[in-house]
Amino acid sequence: MKRKLRYGMVGGSLDAFIGGVHRKAIALEETAELVAGCFSTNSEKNLKCGEFYNLSGDRIYSDYREMAEGEKNREDKIDFVSIVTPNSTHFEISKAFLEADIHVMCEKPLCFTVEEAKELSELAKDRNLFFGVMYTYSGYPMVKLAKQLVEDGEIGHILNVNAEYLQDWLIDQVGEDENTDTNLSIWRTDPKVSGISNCVGDIGTHIENTVAYITGLHPKKVLASLDYYGKELDLNANIIVEYENGVHGVYSSSQVCVGHLNGLVVRVFGTKGSIEWVQEDPNYLKVVRKGEPEQIYHRGTAYVGGRAAELNHIPAGHPEGLVFAIANHYRSFMGAICKKLEGSSISNKDLDFPSVLDGVEGVKFIHAAVGSSKEGNIWREL
Ligand SMILES: NC(=O)c1ccc[n+]([C@@H]2O[C@H](COP(=O)([O-])OP(=O)(O)OC[C@H]3O[C@@H](n4cnc5c(N)ncnc54)[C@H](O)[C@@H]3O)[C@@H](O)[C@H]2O)c1
Repeated sequence: MKRKLRYGMVGGSLDAFIGGVHRKAIALEETAELVAGCFSTNSEKNLKCGEFYNLSGDRIYSDYREMAEGEKNREDKIDFVSIVTPNSTHFEISKAFLEADIHVMCEKPLCFTVEEAKELSELAKDRNLFFGVMYTYSGYPMVKLAKQLVEDGEIGHILNVNAEYLQDWLIDQVGEDENTDTNLSIWRTDPKVSGISNCVGDIGTHIENTVAYITGLHPKKVLASLDYYGKELDLNANIIVEYENGVHGVYSSSQVCVGHLNGLVVRVFGTKGSIEWVQEDPNYLKVVRKGEPEQIYHRGTAYVGGRAAELNHIPAGHPEGLVFAIANHYRSFMGAICKKLEGSSISNKDLDFPSVLDGVEGVKFIHAAVGSSKEGNIWREL
């Protein structure tokens, strides 16, 4: 491409969490520039953010609808929009930009209902637009290596999956020291903003997507036990899943596990070996072949090939983390947009980013888990 891509952002004011991470990740790639935004419903925060990024005044929009409409008719319209607002807004905002013929990268969970998720998926297909959903963790090179090892049969046939995502940031919401937290993230405990689930919707869904990426296995049905501790939404969840091939897995997610910050761990066990990836130590992958001592693969080394090797930003030994993983998804997403603009053919490799279809699976998983738990811990089909 002779020019940089132009992008806009909805959400992500300077005090927000993930919007700034998206901007830094896109900046790592050096192929796109931020030219438009509606960063907050608070006009002061919106303006402050737009001015911080030197946006021209007419492209700091006070409303996302105005932004989609305004951008749609410009000759230098944005090529894509990043949607980094709380869950309740994803459906309407995504729809508005798809209808303006603008490619979308939206945060997870995709939206509130399966019907909405399918509608977005159909709309993107009808309009021939790319629609990414930011399931961060499949962006890590060592997760890509895990996928490759599974595909190459290195651990044999999968027998079992055991994955957890443990945090403790909501521990003060339960027990003797209960207090009302006022931090920005607390909307996650409000069903009007978060949807039908807090814990499963926020982090359980990351387990589902990361496991599906590595193994190709999607849950067919789930048996879930969600813990609410007297709150409106779940704070802890234990879920048994059954995949299409009859194999089972266990997914535990929690926001009340004291001492755990962002503990996503995925373990896949096969007939010939096992793999384990730990998000808080993401540059390594543990692989054990039956009867052999464990091996630790390091990102960026000569013995790591394939997609894992293509997506290195800095040499081995220099840790890469969250911003790099998100940058990798943007590299693929933006690369696909460039190819489309140039009229080049697009391969499966070009589409190695989580899509709206992953978003649909995520919403189905959340609903099945909540339904299973509420109906007395029964098996629920997705
Ligand atoms: N992929 C990941 O690893 C990851 C990590 C964190 C958050 N998330 C997801 O990202 C989304 C945002 O989470 P967060 O923690 O950054 O939230 P946050 O509360 O920190 O930030 C949300 C931002 O959206 C703005 N906003 C809200 N409604 C808006 C609207 N209608 N128009 C414009 N701006 C609006 C707010 O002002 C704020 O700037 C959530 O869906 C969450 O699930 C994903």
